[in-house]
Order: sequence, then C-alpha cells, then structure tokens
Amino acid sequence: MSLRGAAGRDVNVETEATKQPSIDEEIASLALTDKEELIMNNKYKSVPVKSSEITPYSQYLSRRDFLKAAGIVTGSALFAACAPAQRATETTLPEGEAPVIPTGKMDELGDPANSFEDITNYNNYYEFSVDKEAVNPLSKDFAPAPWTVEVHGLVNNPQTYGIEDLLRKFPQEERIYRLRCVEAWSMVIPWTGFPLASLLQEVEPTSDAKFVRFETVYRPEEMPGQKNPLFPWPYQEGLRLDEAMHDLTILATGLYGQPMPNPNGAPIRLVVPWKYGFKSIKSIVKIELVAEQPSTLWNTVGPGEYGFYSNVNPERSHPRWSQASERRIGEFDRRPTLMFNGYAEQVASLYVGMDLVENY
Ligand code: MTE
Repeated sequence: MSLRGAAGRDVNVETEATKQPSIDEEIASLALTDKEELIMNNKYKSVPVKSSEITPYSQYLSRRDFLKAAGIVTGSALFAACAPAQRATETTLPEGEAPVIPTGKMDELGDPANSFEDITNYNNYYEFSVDKEAVNPLSKDFAPAPWTVEVHGLVNNPQTYGIEDLLRKFPQEERIYRLRCVEAWSMVIPWTGFPLASLLQEVEPTSDAKFVRFETVYRPEEMPGQKNPLFPWPYQEGLRLDEAMHDLTILATGLYGQPMPNPNGAPIRLVVPWKYGFKSIKSIVKIELVAEQPSTLWNTVGPGEYGFYSNVNPERSHPRWSQASERRIGEFDRRPTLMFNGYAEQVASLYVGMDLVENY
C-alpha cells in the first residue's frame, strides 16, 4: 500500500509492488490459465468446523488471563508462540499449552495455505504501523476483549452483540480463501467465521437499506498509527447490500482454528475474498445499514487509486503498477492474477452489465 501524503510525498510501503513485469509478461498472463479453467469446473466449498477444532473464546480469554497473571506473555506473542520453531525466547509456555497449528491445508485450487507465522507477521494494519513486520509486535498489548459490535441503521431489529454472543449464535465454519492485496501480493488463509448474511438477516434490513458500512475500533492509546494525521480515522469500509449478503462474504473470528490474532484484526474482521484486501476491514465495532454508498478510508485518501468496488481485476491496472500478476508470499515467481481472485464463478453475476474498469 502506498499513499500520496498531504505533503505530496509518496509513502511507499511495498517495494515488490513497484517491481513490475514487462508489457509482454502482462499480456501473457492475461491468457486463460489452467487455474482459471479449474475454477470454472470446481465449485468453492465451505467446510463446517467441528466445535472441537476451534479454541473456545472463553478458553482463549481464560488462557490469556492465566498467562497474563502468571506474567508470562500477553497478546499476539501468544500466537507467535504457536508457530513452529520460532521466537523461543519470547515466552515459555507451560508444556502441552501451545495450540497445535494443523498443516496440509489448501485452497480449492490445490494451493497450500500460508503458514501461521507468515499470516501473523506480514500484515497491513495501519492503525499499528505502515511497516508490515512491525504490526505483530506493536499489536501485542491490544485488548480484543471485552468487545461489542453494534449493528444499526436502516434495520428493524438493531442489536449490540458481545463477541461471545456472535460465537455462540452463529456456527463457525472454516473457509480457506485467497487474500489478494492491492499491492500485488497474496496469501492463502484458513479463516474461521460465519457468513455476514446470517447476521444481517437477524437485524432485518429495511427496504431502504442499499449498502453496509463498517467501522474499525478507534483507540489511539492502543493503536499508535491512529495518531497519524494523514488518515481519516477510524478506518471505514463499505459493501453494496448484495455483496454483503453473498455467501462468500464472512465475518472472520479466527484463523487456523485459533481466535483471531491481533495483527489480523482481533477479535472480528470482514473477509471479502474476491476484492482487494483493503476491503476486508479489521477489528470491527460498528456495522451500519445505509441508503447511500458510504465513504471509505482508502477511497477518501486516494480516490483515483482505490475505488469503492475494488474487485480483483487483472485488466485494471493501479495507476502506479500493473495488477496482471502477483507474488504469493513464500513463492519466488510471480503468478497471474485471477479475475475476481479466482471466485468469478460465484460472484460475476453480481456485476452483470457493469463496466468493471470504470467501476474499479
Ligand atoms: N483494516 C484496518 N482496520 N486497517 C488496515 O490497515 N488493511 C487492509 C485490510 N484491513 C487494514 C484493514 C489491507 S490493505 C489488507 S491487504 C488486509 O487487511 C491485510 O490483512 P492481513 O494483515 O490479515 O493479511
């Protein structure tokens, strides 16, 4: 992600994104790939998660409280300790305490999930830092509990849910999705969560509701990046109501069966896998049903660069780099970007008749 700051200076955070392929490479990558054919023949499957496979939130809280009281470790360092053979010096977990991170997960195209370590140590979370590797350490003292999410606006049945209510009420599923950042890198992430549609149905949007607006928590004392005046905090995002109701759109409460790690947006974040990652807003406290297209943080700072729709589209270059290819974290070669991030079969019907280059 890079930003043309108020001072007219570019703050460039992702150098790989500027290393762009040649025009020939771009054209070659637009050809229909085996992968795209595979998607057309392979319906995306969601996998319900057995509750025994998810660490209950109550256990997570008591575990955190225990560790805190014992003065051993707090916050995301706990999760960092989950990754194999790393940061042994940061913490000493009692034997048998470290959660087991399963291996061998893959997406429906057969690509392996990124490691827990990759997913929790290379993050865009500007509330903490614009440096991806600084987010994990800076977010370790962020408190994801207690937590409430207010769902309000043009609804018949407004609600304020505690995070525990959401986990109890809505069955958690595993969804292994590709996350494609607008900066042209990607990962495969095994989220746990539930369809946003289930929550929206419960609050009963009125017939005037056309869009959904999301807001991240505002806690500048815990989130040092929120003191950066170049951004209009709190982070806001939005979806059209039909996008929000689509089955692929989830509220994620964890990954790899663990409660959501702080650097990934604890305790609850949006995941919209066919859109650039910045649409997947983290640490949500408000969900509002509205009549007009809401403003969003990135569209406000860079309207020519970050559109409201932001569907992954290899044919619509970012003004400063191509989107025709991407770098999967952990791989050396670039790979072609897939239309709608590989979810075209499921979501293309939402945009029939729309010019997706104009409506970027
Ligand atoms: N949400 C908030 N509140 N703040 C952010 O800076 N960054 C976005 C998105 N959600 C961001 C956010 C971007 S640019 C990306 S690519 C994804 O989160 C990254 O998610 P990850 O760190 O879990 O991979």
